[in-house]
Amino acid sequence: MIPVVKTIDEVRKHVKAWRRDGLSIGLVPTMGFLHEGHKSLIDRAVRENDRVVVSDFVNPTQFGPNEDLEAYPRDLDRDAALCDEAGASLIFNPEPEEMYHAPLTTVSVDKITKVLCGKSRPVHFAGVCTVVSKLFNIVTPDRAYFGQKDAQQLCVVRKMVKDLDFDIEIVGCPIVREADGLAKSSRNTYLSPEERKAALCLSRALGKGRKMIDEGERSAAAVKAAIRAEIEREPLARIDYVEAVNMDSFEDAEEAAAPLLAAVAVYIGKTRLIDNFIIE
Ligand code: PAF
Repeated sequence: MIPVVKTIDEVRKHVKAWRRDGLSIGLVPTMGFLHEGHKSLIDRAVRENDRVVVSDFVNPTQFGPNEDLEAYPRDLDRDAALCDEAGASLIFNPEPEEMYHAPLTTVSVDKITKVLCGKSRPVHFAGVCTVVSKLFNIVTPDRAYFGQKDAQQLCVVRKMVKDLDFDIEIVGCPIVREADGLAKSSRNTYLSPEERKAALCLSRALGKGRKMIDEGERSAAAVKAAIRAEIEREPLARIDYVEAVNMDSFEDAEEAAAPLLAAVAVYIGKTRLIDNFIIE
């Protein structure tokens, strides 16, 4: 069975031994409660690296005061079985005290973290960038794998890596969906059966927007309006945002053309779900 280690020192021991043997290392940062989306990242990391570390850590610093830190689902045994089966080499599952000793240092990326999810989650990306930087320094991977479902996170991490000269390749992986289109997320477990049905409005609305562009629509405002209208037809949905931005600058897009990120965040009951599509 795959080793599960709790301390930074233990990770470093494994990494040192692998490096002595000239092996390459992939990192898949996760908050656990792994699903098919995470598995696709781990599978790719296993294909592309000699050893793969999966971090399994519900990072408290990326949750705001009224968010779901306590409720966030956890199941280390199930995660370990999935990682083992996928061929990962090590799980790093620290306690918060192992990662944070009254820190005075934060890593934050400006501007592109102030919009979309950053607007309603003001501390989120600094928490993500800080923990991801720490994981990069602990594991020193050659490659790190992130899902496109958190498209803004992927862009923010890429920018951080460029700005801070981390010698790490960031690999973005496609969104994995349920058969009916719902993007896989650990937070889907919060949904009641009725909410689960309602949650389909995200992928349905984005699908409509995407189709409009494929059929020649060039106005980003028109695409956004259509996405918003489709979500608003669902009584259980409350929109946090519907945005279409230039994927490099994160400024509002006028034209619905590459590089475009169309992204939504929607509350279904109390559960906040995100989804997106990209035109590259
Ligand atoms: O995407 C996530 O699960 C988290 O934001 C990450 C990257 C593991 C950092 O805690």
